[in-house]
Amino acid sequence: MTRTDLQGCRILITGGSVGLGREMAEAALARGAEVAVIARDRARLAEIERLGARTFAGDATDAAFMAASVREAKPDVLILNAGAPLAMGPIDELDFVAFSSSWNTDVKAGLAGIQAAFHAPMTAGSRILLMSSGAAMVLSAAHIPNQSLYLSGGYVGAKYMLWFMAHNANAVAEKRGLGLHFQVLVPTQLMAGTELGRKVAAVYADLKGITPETYLESRYGPPLTPAHLGKQVADILSDPRYRSGVAYGLTAGEEPMGLDT
Ligand SMILES: NC(=O)c1ccc[n+]([C@@H]2O[C@H](COP(=O)([O-])OP(=O)(O)OC[C@H]3O[C@@H](n4cnc5c(N)ncnc54)[C@H](OP(=O)(O)O)[C@@H]3O)[C@@H](O)[C@H]2O)c1
Repeated sequence: MTRTDLQGCRILITGGSVGLGREMAEAALARGAEVAVIARDRARLAEIERLGARTFAGDATDAAFMAASVREAKPDVLILNAGAPLAMGPIDELDFVAFSSSWNTDVKAGLAGIQAAFHAPMTAGSRILLMSSGAAMVLSAAHIPNQSLYLSGGYVGAKYMLWFMAHNANAVAEKRGLGLHFQVLVPTQLMAGTELGRKVAAVYADLKGITPETYLESRYGPPLTPAHLGKQVADILSDPRYRSGVAYGLTAGEEPMGLDT
């Protein structure tokens, strides 16, 4: 039986043309949501349009464009997922442009999206989901060695920043009584089914002299697939149990994992 538990829900996703954003878009469309997608490349947007999504071609780091898109799409849910390709290398070799690439896209687009939610404005009861990463847990999760992501440049900090920004935004929304709720999506694994996942796994696997597949399996165990991630995000949006927490880990298991209330 087809689930229609997102019927009537309007969802706007940045970076929804390929990769994880596209999986989230497809899962939401399949469950009855009205979906709109933001990305820059029009050819890739045309593909998701054919699946039934509305599209806005533009740069998610552009605050005016984000506010105009939110005003036009009137989403109940805004997913801030757009991210830069990862610049990798040892800290003594990356220049600041490369080092800060995730800040100049992921964090800048996160800020533009949060501000669009406040200023467009989105209506009371709306949710804004920011895409972080399990990498953001490197200093707090005992099972991740502190130095394990030493080639990932500014990515880890950028993804941690987005998590922190969600808390900042919740504080402002609560003080003003706006009824907006900011949440954080934390994929707990690198995914072989994505370009980013393949690239990072290849670099760390090469250092260990093993294949990317062996690296991913030894590090994470059963794989999290992009399609399963899309389903878990649809569950987070449709199941009232996930309405009030702040951060949810997206895992290979059946259910999202509450990380931060
Ligand atoms: N893949 C993983 O294993 C993994 C794990 C943890 C977290 N994440 C996070 O999940 C998110 C998606 O990852 P992914 O692997 O699916 O990435 P991806 O395949 O590289 O897709 C990135 C998407 O963002 C869009 N985008 C990039 N810059 C943009 C900008 N300035 N304005 C508008 N759209 C922009 C891209 O479209 P255009 O280039 O056409 O604009 C594309 O649709 C990222 O934030 C990433 O850090 C990924």
